[in-house]
Amino acid sequence: MITGGTGFVGSNIVRVFMETHGADVLVPTNIHVPTNAAYECEPCDLTDPAAVRASVERFRPDVIVHAAILNDYDRLYRDRHAAWDSYVGATRNVVAAANVLGAKVVLVSTDWVFDGTQGPATEATPPNPINLYGVMKMASELVVTEGADNGAVARVSGVNGVHWARPHTPRVQDPGFGYFVASIVDSLRAGKRFTVWEADDINMVATPSLATESAEMMWRIAELDRVGIFHCCGRDSVSRRELALAACDIFDLDTRLLDFGPPDVDVMHGAPIPFDTSLDASATAEALGYELPSLSELLSKFRVHYEQGVLA
Ligand SMILES: NC(=O)c1ccc[n+]([C@@H]2O[C@H](COP(=O)([O-])OP(=O)(O)OC[C@H]3O[C@@H](n4cnc5c(N)ncnc54)[C@H](OP(=O)(O)O)[C@@H]3O)[C@@H](O)[C@H]2O)c1
Repeated sequence: MITGGTGFVGSNIVRVFMETHGADVLVPTNIHVPTNAAYECEPCDLTDPAAVRASVERFRPDVIVHAAILNDYDRLYRDRHAAWDSYVGATRNVVAAANVLGAKVVLVSTDWVFDGTQGPATEATPPNPINLYGVMKMASELVVTEGADNGAVARVSGVNGVHWARPHTPRVQDPGFGYFVASIVDSLRAGKRFTVWEADDINMVATPSLATESAEMMWRIAELDRVGIFHCCGRDSVSRRELALAACDIFDLDTRLLDFGPPDVDVMHGAPIPFDTSLDASATAEALGYELPSLSELLSKFRVHYEQGVLA
């Protein structure tokens, strides 16, 4: 069962679990309902405990990967109750149902549980979130690590990749690293200039992930039945500038179309953003028997996904 399977990260988990590993997948849907999906899906609002319990009872999953979030920063700050319910409450509902039915829970979490000065943070580094999103993800992590009978936390960071469920969503730069490479590739291939944001109050250094590789690591957490906290990201930590230049190299793009400068809009509405969220994933690599991919390996695989629509 993959919550948020119609979202960006979730659609990659669905694809890897089904295509690479032959899993039967159920996706509980919210607003976006896929047509002609190769997997089973049914409406299920994760903030409704009875609906989650009924869905888990019906499908009886071995594993629930919980990737769903309310991904609307304005709304998170405007409506704190809805925000808390959709992060911490939904995670509680998933964990409660999983415990009754004996399923393993893998919560997808984030490098933004750190404060931006702790890098390279290991799986054992105590979190210290500095914005509401980070606080709610940290609280959700605790629900899993303290409350799940069989639970794991899979932190992803700077996620790049194809959104397989909604490939035509506009990809734009944001204060994090998500969609960063796709937005550069889209712009430069269209002959448009692209300003790589550089500022003290945005996420300037991170450890990029490729969504399919993070999904593969989650599969191993499930298959090897690991519990605890894992960093499901790549090997290399980079600045925005370094990532932009590496993307140009791997995608054969003209770096003369890149500019470097401050964001031109109030991108996070005044909420603090962690500066350096580098992750150290070596303990995860060891636990999962997985060799962390270098940045150029991740970007080369992403180019195959982006251009050919197939998993590398
Ligand atoms: N993207 C990144 O760079 C990044 C970085 C670090 C961590 N993460 C983590 O990765 C996970 C997925 O993020 P994403 O970027 O893939 O987000 P996303 O594309 O916005 O997907 C969120 C998904 O959650 C679903 N959802 C939201 N509320 C729901 C509800 N009440 N009931 C059922 N489903 C609900 C959405 O369905 P509807 O659209 O139908 O509402 C959507 O499928 C999150 O846990 C996030 O913290 C992402």
